[in-house]
Amino acid sequence: MSELSSRYARALVTGARSGLGKAFALRLMAEGIEVWGSSRMPDAFENLPGINPVLVDLNREKELSKWYQDLDRRAGGFDLLVNNAGFGAFGKFGDFRDEDIQSQLRVLLTSPMQLALGAIKCMRARKRGCIVNISSMAGSLWIPFFSSYNAGKAGLSAFSQSLMLEAPATPPWIIDFCPGDLATPFNRSTVRRGEPSGRLQRVWRRIEQNTEAALPPQRAAEDLMGGLKRFRHCTLHSGSFLQRIMARLGARLVPTGCKRTALRRYFDLH
Ligand SMILES: NC(=O)c1ccc[n+]([C@@H]2O[C@H](COP(=O)([O-])OP(=O)(O)OC[C@H]3O[C@@H](n4cnc5c(N)ncnc54)[C@H](OP(=O)(O)O)[C@@H]3O)[C@@H](O)[C@H]2O)c1
Repeated sequence: MSELSSRYARALVTGARSGLGKAFALRLMAEGIEVWGSSRMPDAFENLPGINPVLVDLNREKELSKWYQDLDRRAGGFDLLVNNAGFGAFGKFGDFRDEDIQSQLRVLLTSPMQLALGAIKCMRARKRGCIVNISSMAGSLWIPFFSSYNAGKAGLSAFSQSLMLEAPATPPWIIDFCPGDLATPFNRSTVRRGEPSGRLQRVWRRIEQNTEAALPPQRAAEDLMGGLKRFRHCTLHSGSFLQRIMARLGARLVPTGCKRTALRRYFDLH
């Protein structure tokens, strides 16, 4: 039995079919933790036999805190919730539709909050557990034309930090996990709106270049294991050394105006 599995027997990872979610699920299983993974696809885990499949669309399921508590009972109790599922919506904000904003914020923010509500009710009663919210560096280092995504991730980080304030030294522990670029299929599922103008294309090219050059998702899984082993609330940055430094400096030292100027330069928006 590993240090982690002695404290955390069972985990629910949302969006565990691909990318970071899959890497988290496999790494947790390697620690001896039983993993339940969610997907919208019924056959998502046919090639990942160790994962207990959970079929759910986080954009459609309404009463998610109740849904979580029912699943918790059926599974035998989760000690870990990894709120990982997510997607991006890319385009000029003026080209978005109402439903784009709703689905973006529902999957990135409202649903993780409702799942966390269910998890806190269950974990509080058992006086153990950890809730990991997969946010993004985009919550503080904003990516152009990802306005709703940036807003959703900033909201999710603010939510995690608020929970840490509410109960400073008692479980469930809260982890605000903020990755930079990692090499996953994320760009493929990004919803794109409006005509791809020159500026949009330049930004999209930069995003794709960053993904191609990025570290594999296993890097994020290792970083998460390190955070889980602290057994306390924490904020974690994952990704390249440069991005982790930029995220820390950007959050603490650099004035907002300078940050915007640097981001415009970086994304070739002048
Ligand atoms: N890759 C990066 O560089 C990066 C950086 C910062 C943050 N992140 C965050 O990391 C998380 C994982 O992303 P990823 O990069 O691993 O991308 P990914 O491979 O596309 O994984 C996203 C997962 O989210 C699930 N999902 C999407 N919409 C859903 C919905 N409506 N209901 C339920 N599940 C849904 C998908 O599951 P199904 O399709 O199987 O249903 C998919 O497995 C996201 O929250 C993302 O914002 C990624």
